[in-house]
Amino acid sequence: MDKVKFAVVGIGYIGKRYADLILNRNDSELAAIVDVDKNRIEELSKLYPTQTFLDIEQLLHSDTNYDVVCLATPNYLHCSQAKLVLKNNSHVVIEKPMGLNSSDCNEVIQLAKTQDRNIFCVMQNRYSPPSAWLKEIISNHILGKIFHVQINCFWNRDERYYAASEWKGKKALDGGTLFTQFSHFIDTLYWIFGDIENIQSRFYNNNHKQIIDFEDSGVVLFDLLKGGSGTINYSTSVWNKNLESSITIIGEKGSVKVGGQYMDKVLHCEIENYTMPDLPLTNAANDYGNYKGSAANHRYVIQNIIDVMQGKDTIKTSAEEGMKVIEMIERIYRS
Ligand SMILES: NC(=O)c1ccc[n+]([C@@H]2O[C@H](COP(=O)([O-])OP(=O)(O)OC[C@H]3O[C@@H](n4cnc5c(N)ncnc54)[C@H](O)[C@@H]3O)[C@@H](O)[C@H]2O)c1
Repeated sequence: MDKVKFAVVGIGYIGKRYADLILNRNDSELAAIVDVDKNRIEELSKLYPTQTFLDIEQLLHSDTNYDVVCLATPNYLHCSQAKLVLKNNSHVVIEKPMGLNSSDCNEVIQLAKTQDRNIFCVMQNRYSPPSAWLKEIISNHILGKIFHVQINCFWNRDERYYAASEWKGKKALDGGTLFTQFSHFIDTLYWIFGDIENIQSRFYNNNHKQIIDFEDSGVVLFDLLKGGSGTINYSTSVWNKNLESSITIIGEKGSVKVGGQYMDKVLHCEIENYTMPDLPLTNAANDYGNYKGSAANHRYVIQNIIDVMQGKDTIKTSAEEGMKVIEMIERIYRS
């Protein structure tokens, strides 16, 4: 395959990021953009030299030539649109969260197997050097037995964020704070430490009662299946701007803490007979003007898709892992 041809569905904040990254490479082509917002499509058609559609069905029934469809639409559409794409015999990229329940995600995975197509999920925080380093030291048992893992995600998401969107904050369309804001950190937990059990949670809505249908904050206590305990404390109630996203690990042979606004800095590393290596710089956070998100690592996501399509690599963030994150969030909310 020479150039990989992409169609991007949903040209909002993150869809535009896809379009820009795809256009800025010489091994990819932006074959089409799709958005139900007519004004947005008109505005973006001036920026992007590509075909435009107002509906995914129009794209799928057109004679436009594309290999991969990237879904950057509201969360509740991910699984149904992924099924349409797969039935139409294309590969699909599904923004996080993969879906709003694990049974829908499972149906998408089964369909991809039948159609022999790829699903790429998006967990781009894994590409941040501190995350990759944590994965390496835990996989190589550098900390010995794990006693405790603490994840703190304290962000600002206020009227400025929710007023700009029709779907964010609505239970049926968004899913909840763990789906939209903090699923990246549930993925970090699963990717590095594996599954959790014996979950106990409490949820609160501190200062979003008129704004969102669900909790803005929660406290989650759990055991790691591989041994050790953990907590997740999360909130979008922080005034004005993000405070931190951090992970602290207490192990038999040492302790580490990775923090910053989005787990971008190693703040502490004290391990028996171990010298902390120099890590490459972490990319800045996704910047949406008034607020910031997770690491701006989508270029690595696109690189992996192109490498897989060209037969040079395997999928780095699979649909099975994407579904696992959804299943863990479901269990946390049920607990
Ligand atoms: N990986 C990350 O770090 C990251 C960051 C931000 C958002 N996201 C995910 O990306 C997705 C989009 O988020 P966003 O912040 O860009 O939202 P957004 O509201 O800015 O953009 C969504 C776009 O989809 C369009 N849309 C709605 N229904 C559609 C339909 N049926 N067909 C085609 N287009 C449709 C909207 O008009 C809008 O332009 C969400 O699932 C979100 O969780 C991921």
